[in-house]
Amino acid sequence: MIALASDHGGFALKNEIKSLLDEMGLAYKDFGTDTPDSCDYVEFGAKAARAVACGEFGKGILFCGTGAGMNYTANKIDGIRCVLCSDCFTAAMSREHNDANMLALGGRVVGVGLARMIVNIWLDTRFSGDERHKRRIVELMNLEKTG
Ligand code: RB5
Repeated sequence: MIALASDHGGFALKNEIKSLLDEMGLAYKDFGTDTPDSCDYVEFGAKAARAVACGEFGKGILFCGTGAGMNYTANKIDGIRCVLCSDCFTAAMSREHNDANMLALGGRVVGVGLARMIVNIWLDTRFSGDERHKRRIVELMNLEKTG
């Protein structure tokens, strides 16, 4: 199950990706926003990120104008490794090496075709499980305790 959220800047792209997930037969929940009216990304991004962090959702995809605001928001929540992505290589590596559990996309940055490719790759790529990558992820997540 995939958690989705956007602000107004990512609203249209979120709807495009919902169509892709429907085509792929993947279940999702949209944590808002529900209209293209101006709103604050933090509220909606945090709701989706908390749902991933607590294990209710396996992955999440966030959308705002640049993806940056949503990326900052998600990475403030303990347990989240959110990647801001606008290319296919990063989409694959963020899963294979970093075991990213959230993806942030910029609705004003990437076109629909590229965004669909990125989401496809990101969802299809597994974490390699290599010891060195596991070690680095533990080091990374420990920063939540040590600052
Ligand atoms: C909204 O104008 C815009 O700032 C927002 O969508 C996002 O790009 C923030 O990072």
